[in-house]
Amino acid sequence: MRKARLVLATRNPGKIEEITHLLEDLPVQVFTWKDFPDWPPVEEVGDTFEENARHKAESLARWADLPALADDSGLEVEALGGAPGVVSAHYAGKHGDDAGNVARLLRELEGVPREGRGARFVCVLVLAGPRGERLLVRETCEGRIAEEPRGEGGFGYDPVFVPNGEVRTMAELSLEEKNALSHRGKALRRLRALLEKGEPEWLYGGPG
Ligand code: IMP
Repeated sequence: MRKARLVLATRNPGKIEEITHLLEDLPVQVFTWKDFPDWPPVEEVGDTFEENARHKAESLARWADLPALADDSGLEVEALGGAPGVVSAHYAGKHGDDAGNVARLLRELEGVPREGRGARFVCVLVLAGPRGERLLVRETCEGRIAEEPRGEGGFGYDPVFVPNGEVRTMAELSLEEKNALSHRGKALRRLRALLEKGEPEWLYGGPG
């Protein structure tokens, strides 16, 4: 099988590490923003995780003339009609303000009983080719929002998210336990399984 090449559509060091680790030992050569001195800025413009991940992957694939892999993720809370959704990272105003985001979420859910606190994490991965080819993987992790934050691990909403079948929050799980059931862990494992089978075919058809 010919070696495929792809570029990661993120500058987030955590995501780069996770995805590179996932693609280890596959016949895939992975490039990052560090290989491109004039890396283009890509903003998140869509109303859905799919649109955002597609936009990031497709615009980079065209620009770099290489297959590109992007991910978009967030939290949907039933009692809030799916909020914070695509604005999960800046729910409280400032991008990446995890403590502020959690505080706002708990405020919005004040007085909502346990059975009304259902929620899910969503992860969408899009692998896009430079000529419009596309592969999309979506995975979720179902659970509920706790009454108060617990645990030191993870990031984002992990201290208030209790996965189904658990009494601990995501932030109280080890990284391995989290990866085994998280939206991102599940999506990355599905993508890896496809790549291991030599899919999608167009990924292996390019020059080189
Ligand atoms: P983005 O995918 O980089 O746009 O970030 C999405 C946001 O969703 C993060 O900043 C977190 O607030 C939240 N989020 C996504 N995945 C997780 C997770 O595994 N745990 C906790 N929060 C998450």
